[in-house]
Amino acid sequence: MTKILIALVALVIAYVAALFWFDHVDHIEKWDWETIDTKYLSFPDGFVWGVASAAHQVEGGHTNNNWARWEQTSYPDGRPHIDRGELCGNACEHWTRYPEDIRLMQELGVKSYRFSVSWDKIMPTPETVDTSALVHYQQVCDSLLAAGISPMVTLHHFSHPIWFEDMGGFEREENTVHFVRFSTLVFNALKGRVKWWCTINEPAVFAVGAYNDGHFPPGKKDPHLAATVLGNLYKAHVAVYKAIKAEDGGAAAQVGIVKNMHKIDPMQSWDVLDRLLAHLVNRGFNGSFISTFTQGEYVFSIPGVVDVRMEIPEAPNTLDFVGLNYYSHNAMDFSIDLDEALQTRMYPGERPTDMSYTMYPEGIYRAIREISAVNKPIIITENGVADSTDAFRGEFIAKYLYAVQKAIADGYDVRGYHYWSLTDNFEWDLGYSMRFGLYRMDFATQQRTLQEGSKVYQRVVQANTK
Ligand code: GCO
Repeated sequence: MTKILIALVALVIAYVAALFWFDHVDHIEKWDWETIDTKYLSFPDGFVWGVASAAHQVEGGHTNNNWARWEQTSYPDGRPHIDRGELCGNACEHWTRYPEDIRLMQELGVKSYRFSVSWDKIMPTPETVDTSALVHYQQVCDSLLAAGISPMVTLHHFSHPIWFEDMGGFEREENTVHFVRFSTLVFNALKGRVKWWCTINEPAVFAVGAYNDGHFPPGKKDPHLAATVLGNLYKAHVAVYKAIKAEDGGAAAQVGIVKNMHKIDPMQSWDVLDRLLAHLVNRGFNGSFISTFTQGEYVFSIPGVVDVRMEIPEAPNTLDFVGLNYYSHNAMDFSIDLDEALQTRMYPGERPTDMSYTMYPEGIYRAIREISAVNKPIIITENGVADSTDAFRGEFIAKYLYAVQKAIADGYDVRGYHYWSLTDNFEWDLGYSMRFGLYRMDFATQQRTLQEGSKVYQRVVQANTK
């Protein structure tokens, strides 16, 4: 009897100790918004305000990249790869309408525009360069600069040429040379105009979407391959960083990578198994980034699922800043069935967005805290909300910016913020249904209209710009 009692007490102590340990590793915050005033937000002088976009999502006219091919084909069960069988098509015609979009940025008052360049338009084949495409981006930069807006260029934002995809893309480490060649070409074409460079957007989202979940091209479902691609992307970042520095010649380029710190939390914080699962998935998705860029050790390991390790010793010295994308968190609910266990879920009780996650502003504070482990200036390169009726965009902006302001007040080195996105655009496999834009798009007429909720952003930007 006593033995059973001792065993039970030991079990309870172990359980409570485990809860404390998980809480110590990653504390799940909830703030009482009833007591918080988000009306007057104040940011330090020189804080950079911006908006962000990506080439494939806004430019239009892509025929030669992985996504252009993906949208033309279906899953084996006949479902189209893009919801409702939508095609990206002309998107926001940003390729030709960029002067109008720059005027919209001026109307907001932002001073930075993060956008990506189309590798497929610049290099239609591995051997050819379309100089008119490079000239196009030079003109975009010149127009931005003339409007008092700094260009921030992303070199890889989920899309790349079909020829690159067909040679195995980032599955094969030796293909990195092509990405380095392309990046060097773009850098030399734009270096006098562009100071801020993002090498790769959200490597983990891309690797998991394309090689584990299979809803991004090439649609593979292989956790080992996904983890390998992620490691290769980090290596590619290092190679591009070094190539840019070698070509810099006094241009003082600032080079970083963009990490989406999507939080993975337990469904029930008292449930040790939920916490364990959330911890393991979070460690893979977010922790592997931190270990790569602090210790040069890339480790993606979820016991029983995947274990990939790479030494990337130069990684910690290849960030001038870190780009942070943050939207929300999802919940893990433990189950014996592995597939079931790895499903992420929305949090009940939080306001849902049109995406498969809720509004969770506390998370941007946690994301800033977590990413600050790399000890570099942080620039928020994306944050925004899909809200098709514009019911709570204003509330979203006010609360998330409050959390950013609090992080700065608490000493975290956040230098800028880019809202995703200037206009509604093509949301990858979800097509045109997700409306992230500060400006609502009428895709039939190409008309852009400032949403009521976006005025909160406009006000904060203008009140905090000298
Ligand atoms: C991403 C990308 C963007 C998205 C945005 C909204 O996070 O998937 O960087 O291309 O459109 O984040 O989901």
